[in-house]
Amino acid sequence: MTLGEPKPYPDELPSAYASRIGQWYGSWNKPDKTLGQFFTPLEVARFMVAMLPVRHDPLRVLDPGAGFGVLSCALCETMRGDITLVACEVDRALAAYLDLCLRYAQQWMKAHNRRLTYTITHDDFVLAYGGALDQPPPSTFDVVISNPPYFKLSKTDPRAQLTARVVHGQPNIYALFMAVSAALLRTGGYSVFITPRSYSAGQYFSRFRDYFFSLMRPRAIHLFESRRDVFDDVLQESIILLAERSTQDRPVLLSTSANLDFSQLARRTKATGDVLDADHVLHLPLSEQDDAVAAVVRSWGFSLHQHGMEISTGPVVPFRVAQRIMAVGNVPFTHAPLLWMQNVKPMRCEWPIQHKGQYLALRESSNLLLPNQNYVLLRRFSAKEEPQRLTAAAYLADLDTPSIGLENHLNYIYRPNGRLTADEALGLAVLLNSKLMDTYFRLFNGNTQVSATELRKLPLPPLEAIVEMGRLAAVSFDQDVDRLTNEVLGLYA
Ligand SMILES: C[S@@+](CC[C@H](N)C(=O)[O-])C[C@H]1O[C@@H](n2cnc3c(N)ncnc32)[C@H](O)[C@@H]1O
Repeated sequence: MTLGEPKPYPDELPSAYASRIGQWYGSWNKPDKTLGQFFTPLEVARFMVAMLPVRHDPLRVLDPGAGFGVLSCALCETMRGDITLVACEVDRALAAYLDLCLRYAQQWMKAHNRRLTYTITHDDFVLAYGGALDQPPPSTFDVVISNPPYFKLSKTDPRAQLTARVVHGQPNIYALFMAVSAALLRTGGYSVFITPRSYSAGQYFSRFRDYFFSLMRPRAIHLFESRRDVFDDVLQESIILLAERSTQDRPVLLSTSANLDFSQLARRTKATGDVLDADHVLHLPLSEQDDAVAAVVRSWGFSLHQHGMEISTGPVVPFRVAQRIMAVGNVPFTHAPLLWMQNVKPMRCEWPIQHKGQYLALRESSNLLLPNQNYVLLRRFSAKEEPQRLTAAAYLADLDTPSIGLENHLNYIYRPNGRLTADEALGLAVLLNSKLMDTYFRLFNGNTQVSATELRKLPLPPLEAIVEMGRLAAVSFDQDVDRLTNEVLGLYA
């Protein structure tokens, strides 16, 4: 069969050829984003293979979502033994080129006195192998290498249903690829995956993490500061996780790079317990400063609940009550103020502002309204380019109204069966906006969402320290949150 494709150059490495075929294919055929087609740059493919601590043995390898096979090809040219490969690629048109690239890898290996035996399957990987989560198969792989597709699935998708034991809320297909792959590995086998970092924390991925880390231990993690460094138009941090199918803890190698220049790596080794916590959340302390921050925050013995506080999500979901949200209104007679994420700035709330409807009609809204009391309001989302993940403001019941509305992109902290004092609310806002908390939060939160669950688990200092921060903030001209935090925490260290 001739596909009109470029031929290999003399002595061209198989991974370079696969990468070139991918670029050529992309020059006349758009990648299918509905199949999550983002192809791995050559440097990243080689870096992933270099992370694998195996070289000489004959290997049984799985490449789920293989694309043009750049990962498998990089593996073939690096390993010293024979390879038996199963490559899964659901896009049949693309798989013809995968075959071409693997055939070239086969010839290349033969010329280097090694053998590659490969099979390409066109089945959906999750449907074909997902049963392994409940019934682990006898025949398993030594290595799984993958850049899996990345997109959300509906809970009713057959892939989500087959893998229900790792699904909570809306699943992302990449986590299903990782879970199924773990089930297919032999004990002592390795998986190396490049994915978004979003699975490393948060409720949505909790069942996945519990399953994955009950089988696997992290051995090395590489963080790219932005997914855009790796894949042109995807905005999310990417990580490469090398994990071993094992229950034994060993030191974990952490590295980071700002882009694809792997010659400038920052590397360090941490104990498994510093990287994977009891809830299977991945923490990435990448510098000594991160260690110091983690030590301070973890030494605090309190939480919101222990201080008698609770955090909830704003009850107003705009599309459900669109008719009742107005650009003008009459507070307090017929309307309540409606606060959105945009009304909350670090340390201050502004209302009204030039933004979507700032008024919620009182009629039929009683179940959505909150009493006009002191709250700490927190944005639930941060833009990646924003300097801080946590944006909090004390709302000190300062609008002349009996009730307020909070839109669903806000979380709010309150005291059930009581009231937050102004000092408590201000003090919490100071702490949550501080560099200290931001650094701690970033150790485990790799996405732009700030969930109520994560905030419930956040360690807090004694309430007296929080109150003191609030007291000082109330009389401080500049409200420099880092100065206030350091000043007070110094006293409570
Ligand atoms: C992110 S791309 C990565 C391709 C290749 N591994 C690489 O590193 O360049 C994911 C690949 O998985 C394929 N794919 C998507 N859904 C799949 C599924 N359910 N089963 C098997 N392959 C799938 C896509 O067509 C795409 O080629």
